[in-house]
Amino acid sequence: MKITVINGSPKGKDGITNIMVSAFLKGAREAGAETVNILLAGKEIKHCNGCFACWFATPGQCVITDDDMAEVLAQGAGSEILVLASPLKYANISSMLKVFVERLLPFANPYILKDQAGENRHPKKLPEAESSLYRSKLVLIANGGLGQREHFQVISHWIKRLALNNLSEVIGEFFVPQGPLLANPPEELRPVVENYLQILERAGYEIATNKRASEATEKLLEQNLIPDEIYLQQINGFFESLLCNVSHPYVKEWGNTLA
Ligand SMILES: Cc1cc2nc3c(=O)[nH]c(=O)nc-3n(C[C@H](O)[C@H](O)[C@H](O)COP(=O)(O)O)c2cc1C
Repeated sequence: MKITVINGSPKGKDGITNIMVSAFLKGAREAGAETVNILLAGKEIKHCNGCFACWFATPGQCVITDDDMAEVLAQGAGSEILVLASPLKYANISSMLKVFVERLLPFANPYILKDQAGENRHPKKLPEAESSLYRSKLVLIANGGLGQREHFQVISHWIKRLALNNLSEVIGEFFVPQGPLLANPPEELRPVVENYLQILERAGYEIATNKRASEATEKLLEQNLIPDEIYLQQINGFFESLLCNVSHPYVKEWGNTLA
């Protein structure tokens, strides 16, 4: 069983996304999986320019060859599971990760047919797609700073649509809304963070073993690290410490009103 992560945080190995990914992959390796962790921050992946040459001129081949996409695809080839990992960016996945996903177009077949539910889809893919990241089962890992699970609604919906489009399936979604706590937790919160990362490790183990995390594991991972009110105190206190010596006419008022 091979699992490939595509990490779309611009902070790469130093990002909070990578803290989540590392725990998940640790568990997966303990279950015997081969793991590949690709940090897009260290790669050059150019935008799909929408020319459709990969469908109509050179099927399966993208015209862009002077970047790292081919190397990334080669590293991920044969993966049963693709983990897309991202920080929340304006309620969405990062642009880096989106650029990567768009470059999977060469694996698709242009025709459009109706599926059993009456939805229009591109049918069976090129044979090369079968062993590519295009058809791997999908896991989404993400963290954000705003503190609440609602902010992940768009990406949770998106990953399911992506799976439908790619004739794949989503086998796990793991979101941490209080992401900054994972990086440098205050002393008293260390056990909470360690416990969370251990459960995420267990999710990696279970997914590598059964292609699904248990309901119990999923439930535990859906809980916030700390209550919302305490998170707001912590994070706003931290912002205050950063801003207290910054001289700007409005900074003193910033924390007072929403509008
Ligand atoms: C441009 C930008 C947009 C962001 N948008 C959101 C957002 O919509 N919701 C949220 O919860 N956090 C948002 N964040 C916070 C990041 O998700 C958060 O800092 C995260 O921990 C970064 O992960 P990383 O260290 O792996 O890059 C945003 C951060 C940036 C820089």
